[in-house]
Amino acid sequence: MGTGGRLLLLAIAASLLSPLAVAECWDKGSYTTNSTNPDNIQRLADTLPQKAANSPTLFATATVGSLPDVVYALALCRGDANASSCELCLASAFQQGLGLCASALDATFYNYDPCYLRYSDRDFLATTTNDNQEIRVGSQSVSAPFELFDAAVHALLNATADHAAADPLKRFATGEVVAGRGSVVPAIYALAQCTPDMAQESCRSCLADIIQRVPSSSSGTTSGGIIGVRCNYRYELHHFFSGNPRLQLPAPENLKHPETGKSSFYFP
Ligand SMILES: *[C@@H]1O[C@H](CO)[C@@H](O)[C@H](O)[C@H]1NC(C)=O
Ligand SMILES: *[C@@H]1O[C@H](CO)[C@@H](O)[C@H](O)[C@H]1NC(C)=O
Ligand SMILES: *[C@@H]1O[C@H](CO)[C@@H](O)[C@H](O)[C@H]1NC(C)=O
Repeated sequence: MGTGGRLLLLAIAASLLSPLAVAECWDKGSYTTNSTNPDNIQRLADTLPQKAANSPTLFATATVGSLPDVVYALALCRGDANASSCELCLASAFQQGLGLCASALDATFYNYDPCYLRYSDRDFLATTTNDNQEIRVGSQSVSAPFELFDAAVHALLNATADHAAADPLKRFATGEVVAGRGSVVPAIYALAQCTPDMAQESCRSCLADIIQRVPSSSSGTTSGGIIGVRCNYRYELHHFFSGNPRLQLPAPENLKHPETGKSSFYFP
């Protein structure tokens, strides 16, 4: 994940503002002995939240300073956020993150609802590598058979990823598995997103890479997700995003083989 032999200092922010916020700080150094000038970071904190919020894609990058004191940065809000919640989220991510990673040369702040940002002394903007991934796993299990539930999650994420990659503006989509009457699988809601500067194919392959880790990362759990700097997905059993889901899938049905009694499933 692009660690490059650097020292990782992971800070989990048990913050009052957002209990899910996570900050990853690399190479926690000292400004006085090395580059990444705090003025540059402050300039980012002062400008990047507004720049992203004012963009129709809710995304912004920035390069501040001059060599050797250059900082590269990226900020992204969830595709269903509005400008004011986007700006507030990024400003709070900066504030909380800088408290945790006071003098890091490379830091990623995930303020899950609904934004994240990264800055670094290395030019990570030059690639679309999905660095610094965070895995979220729910603490509760579903009552549906895991195999059936996992298959429904996987199918939903695949379809949502297709739509996200095909979205030319935000590379963002939401979806739902609709639980019909008597369905053993509950309703499932999902989103998938790439940074909007990615091409359709690289967005889809970024998402395929993290989605293929379902179910091993979150089998049978009521929520899950992987969030990286370039793409992310998330699913929950409640309607956690705003607006109607972009796509809907029927819940899979469980079939018992009449002779062997073995279960299999299909999507009607
Ligand atoms: C920054 O750190 C590197 C490696 O730790 C060191 O080689 C270099 O001299 C430092 N730069 C300054 C300006 O202190
Ligand atoms: C923006 O989104 C937040 C959170 O969903 C909501 O509380 C707020 O009312 C929205 N503001 C506008 C102007 O739509
Ligand atoms: C999801 O898509 C991958 C390829 O992108 C495919 O191998 C896999 O079978 C699909 N899974 C489901 C459940 O549709």
